[in-house]
Amino acid sequence: MVTVRVLDHPLVQHKLTLMREETCPSSEFRRLLREIGGLLCFEATRDLRLSTRSIRTPVATTEAPCLVGRPPVVAPVLRAGLGLADGMLDLVTEAEVAHIGLRRDEVTHRPEVYFMKAPTDLESRTTIVVDPMLATGHSAVSALTMLKEAGAKDLRFVCLVAAPEGLGTLQAAFPSLPIVTASIDERLDRNAYIVPGLGDAGDRLYGTE
Ligand code: URA
Repeated sequence: MVTVRVLDHPLVQHKLTLMREETCPSSEFRRLLREIGGLLCFEATRDLRLSTRSIRTPVATTEAPCLVGRPPVVAPVLRAGLGLADGMLDLVTEAEVAHIGLRRDEVTHRPEVYFMKAPTDLESRTTIVVDPMLATGHSAVSALTMLKEAGAKDLRFVCLVAAPEGLGTLQAAFPSLPIVTASIDERLDRNAYIVPGLGDAGDRLYGTE
């Protein structure tokens, strides 16, 4: 089953190139990430269920499509995930947010949770985990595992740039997880940064380098 979709639309690819450039200032990086967040969200939600309802236009009455069920939950991995989530919330304004805070354990080098606050009815909702950089994949697996344990059944993952290593880890842990990204880059370097990547997404987003 193909679960990874690369959003190869020319506008997305052009915007990603602008973000990659080391001279791109934080303000521009933030704006572009927000824009691409909306476009990635578009792709990640293309199979949301529709029903119809009767509406009256100024001309006629018609059965018109509308989303059914509770709105999706956007789950940003702090802190860089917030930049993508903003764009998604622009598009799906009624979505709710599950914040997930992860930090790296200095001994095991694995992510550990320091914060999680999610809507309580995840069972019946689409939950989209968002993190701009899928590097080793360990944070994504932690976030998805936590949401699954909290009841989420329809999970998806959205990132801006993915490393092949991270995709492998994620697909091994969640074989049928739908993944949407704007790029699959070459590899990780020895510090687990994506190459060519765009550096530390959180620092570039908030100017904290
Ligand atoms: N996190 C980032 O922000 N950038 C990378 O390249 C890898 C992980």
